[in-house]
Amino acid sequence: MCGIVGYVGNNQAAPILLDGLSKLEYRGYDSAGIAVRDANGDAEIVKAKGRLKILAEKTDNGAAVPGTCGIGHTRWATHGEPSENNAHPHKSDDGNVVAVHNGIIENYQELKEKLLRKGYTFYSNTDTEVAVKLIDYYYKKYEGTPVDAMNHAIVRIRGSYALAVLFKDYPEEIYVARKDSPMVLGVADGASYIGSDVPAILKYTRNVYYIGNLEMARVKKGEITFYNLDGEEIEIEPKEINWDAEAAEKGGYEHFMIKEIHEQPKVVGDTINSVLTTDGKIDLSEVGLSEEEIKDIRQIHIVACGSAYHVGVATQYVMEDLARIPVRVELASEFRYRNPLLDEKDLVVLISQSGETADTLAALRESKARGVRTLAIVNVVGSSIAREADNVFYTLAGPEISVATTKAYSTQLIAGYALAIQFAKVRGEIDEARYSGLIKEMQTLPEKIEKIIEDKERIQWFASKQANARDVFFVGRGIDYAICLEGSLKMKEISYIHSEAYAAGELKHGTISLIEDGILVVGVLTQPDLYEKTVSNMVECKSRGAYLMGLTNFGQYNIEDTADFTVYIPKTDPLFATSLAVIPLQLLGYYVSVARGLDVDKPRNLAKSVTVE
Ligand code: F6R
Repeated sequence: MCGIVGYVGNNQAAPILLDGLSKLEYRGYDSAGIAVRDANGDAEIVKAKGRLKILAEKTDNGAAVPGTCGIGHTRWATHGEPSENNAHPHKSDDGNVVAVHNGIIENYQELKEKLLRKGYTFYSNTDTEVAVKLIDYYYKKYEGTPVDAMNHAIVRIRGSYALAVLFKDYPEEIYVARKDSPMVLGVADGASYIGSDVPAILKYTRNVYYIGNLEMARVKKGEITFYNLDGEEIEIEPKEINWDAEAAEKGGYEHFMIKEIHEQPKVVGDTINSVLTTDGKIDLSEVGLSEEEIKDIRQIHIVACGSAYHVGVATQYVMEDLARIPVRVELASEFRYRNPLLDEKDLVVLISQSGETADTLAALRESKARGVRTLAIVNVVGSSIAREADNVFYTLAGPEISVATTKAYSTQLIAGYALAIQFAKVRGEIDEARYSGLIKEMQTLPEKIEKIIEDKERIQWFASKQANARDVFFVGRGIDYAICLEGSLKMKEISYIHSEAYAAGELKHGTISLIEDGILVVGVLTQPDLYEKTVSNMVECKSRGAYLMGLTNFGQYNIEDTADFTVYIPKTDPLFATSLAVIPLQLLGYYVSVARGLDVDKPRNLAKSVTVE
């Protein structure tokens, strides 16, 4: 959600903090602030409502805030409306403790009342101000070190947080703590860096430290010491990030989203290759599931949010079709409060790009607490979900910056296919010929995706005509319905045009009353067995005035008798159609958003990684 950065070294901190924040702006962006200090004196805090560039202007790109140690924050409001007053950093009454925070403190009201009784006053509506004052309270009460004070505070805080704190008495030091909210640290050339996500510090180092839940760090110039909850020093091994800083830059594209759409052939190929042996077989040994364990699975529960949930819906069709294992797909926010029926022979598959989504993480913990094996399909190495799951299938999408997912979604699909094909083989549901045929076909997907992207201008042209659409309906059956779910989300989240995905057969049960003159209906028809059925549903819409776009396979040219505009995709195994059909729909959402002049990469009210419920 929000973004945190920190720096302590020999250079001026403010420009480095602003640069780091610019890499994290996708995480939250309704206000921003920095606090900078040097060896003497108080930290100077500057905050601004709105985009980061306002803060940059206000500080003369950092030049107006001197000092070599500082922390910064971009905010996506949870408690308290977006305003300069509520923006971080926040400070204690005497200004001796200054902090930035990500996450939500659930018991902040209770803690605030305690602090009010102790004589503290509050100037904002944020839970962060409560955290700062709680740390200040314990710092004064026990007269110990900052680590002692933070230890006392964090055991009293319920919820999730990543905190970076400056103490007046400890110049040139930053103190860090986290629980269920990401935080990475790095050291390079005599300086130390912190960030809530790797892109913030990648320019300086590729060796990053991930601190665990309820762990802390003291960050000094070029030196970081880690502590556990008892205040004892602990060792943390750095992890090497194998994507480079360029991967987190726009590289000449107008937006991250279109850049990431173009990266799909590569990252899909990389993800396929990551589980293939040289003789073309799937090898899940890195994931860590043995054949016995695969044979033993009774039911699979796929749990995720948003687009990752849509991957789950597509995977359900593929897994049930190939491996004949019953699959239930659930929204993580529902699963965690539903008292789910889980058996010890079940497998819970969590899908998450960020690996930090609060509901998905909670679903993972709930499953583990019930003794059920968990397998996470995750993009971000070292993220909470990756660390806590029993098994991890890493997607190799690289850093995804655009708030609307594209390339991570596509690599998650590959993970789903690979699991389904291998499970089917191990459980004897498919023979050798089908097995190698599926793998070979999966290997053709990058090239086919490339071909679709090459034809983007046609979709751009169509999108420019649809920029004023009021409602869009995406209809399809079976896997095509799963594709519609994602196509519809891509459209609405970045273009702000109302859109809905409907199982085509459901239209008659209510929704068709919404179809009127000029409404755009996108029919997705990649499944040969269901083609005629969906065409007839499209005809029903057309006779009520809808304008029809058809999305189908090359060869199905009779769609042009029905649709007003058609996009064709290369043929593939129907089970893999999602990987191809989603591309034109990503492009459609993208170009409609561009045509409407919207901020594609940072749609209003949304944030990249949702670390609060
Ligand atoms: C939509 C989108 C979101 C995410 C969802 C889950 O374009 O990106 O719906 O898919 O917030 O996020 P992760 O995958 O990080 O758990």
